[in-house]
Formats: sequence, structure tokens, C-alpha cells
Amino acid sequence: MSADRTQKIVENVPGKYYVDESCIGCSICVEIAPDNIRSNLNEGYEYIFKQPENESEEKQCIEAMEICPVSAIGDDGTERLDS
Ligand code: F3S
Repeated sequence: MSADRTQKIVENVPGKYYVDESCIGCSICVEIAPDNIRSNLNEGYEYIFKQPENESEEKQCIEAMEICPVSAIGDDGTERLDS
């Protein structure tokens, strides 16, 4: 099971990491990567508000991706600007 880049939550900023619509809002990822992931409490899901900008943020995003119970976080979301 892995995240689906065609099912991204709309609030994600463009780039490598994203949360998809299978997120159940457990919020574990926000605790692990608070500099990059935040909650939309009204909608009950989380999203990437900033792509990682340094090694420690990247590590936290990878850890969040690995720990997400429904594999809703993906790392293949780079947009192709030439297509
Ligand atoms: Fe959602 Fe997974 Fe985070 S379910 S809240 S993306 S840990």
C-alpha cells in the first residue's frame, strides 16, 4: 500500500511530499514532522504546508511517511512543470 499522487489533498504545497485522501486524521505525522505537516481540524485530515528545507526536516517527513498507519503520505509527488 502506498500513497496515491492522483488523490492528493488540495492543500498540499507542490513538491515531493504530499498527503493523499486516504488520511484518517490520526495526527501522528504532525507530532513527528511539525515543521512540514499540519492539521485541517475542520476536515479531519493533514497536509504538507511546507516541503522539507533541510536534512532534519526531510528525516522527519520520511519518519512520518513510514509511521502513517494508512500509508497516506507519499514522496513521489514532484510536479512535472514541462507537461
Ligand atoms: Fe493522516 Fe497518516 Fe498523518 S493518517 S494524519 S497522514 S499519520
